[in-house]
Amino acid sequence: MQKTFFMIKPEIVAARTQRCGEILAMVNADGFRITELALRRLARPTVAEFYAEHHGKPFYDNLLEYITSGPVICAGLEREDAVGRLRALIGATDPAKAAAGTIRARFGTSLTQNAVHASAGRADAERELALIFGR
Ligand code: CDP
Ligand code: MG
Repeated sequence: MQKTFFMIKPEIVAARTQRCGEILAMVNADGFRITELALRRLARPTVAEFYAEHHGKPFYDNLLEYITSGPVICAGLEREDAVGRLRALIGATDPAKAAAGTIRARFGTSLTQNAVHASAGRADAERELALIFGR
C-alpha cells in the first residue's frame, strides 16, 4: 500500500455546490481509502513551503494568493500505486488538456484554477503529508 496527498483547491470549496462530494466520490470509486481528511485555511508560509519548487516562476505569487484565498480540503489517500493512480485520475495540469473523465477535465476552469492537487512523486507525497498532517 502506498500513500499520497490530495487537496481540493479553494474555488471548489468556496462554491457551496456538490462538487467537493463528487470529487471525493470519484476518489473512492477509483479504490482509494481516505486516511486523513481536513478542511484547512493554509497559512502563506505553509503554502510557500508546499510549492517551494515553483519559487521564482512567473505564476508563483499568483499561485500563493490563490491557494491562501480560502479554505481547502486536504486528504491523505491510500491504495496500490497511489501516487501514479491519483495523478492519472486528476489529469493534466491544464484542464483544457486533461483527458476526458479526469477530475481536472470535469471541474477545472483554468490553468491556475484546476480544482485539485495531487503529489507528483513518492518523495513529494511524504513531504506534503508531513507538512499538512504532521508525522
Ligand atoms: O499541480 P501540478 O503538479 O499538475 O502542476 P505544477 O506544474 O506543479 O503547478 C502547480 C500549480 O500551479 C498548478 O496545479 C496550477 O494551479 C498552478 N500553475 C499556474 O497557475 N500556472 C502555470 N503556468 C503552471 C501551474
Ligand atoms: Mg506539481
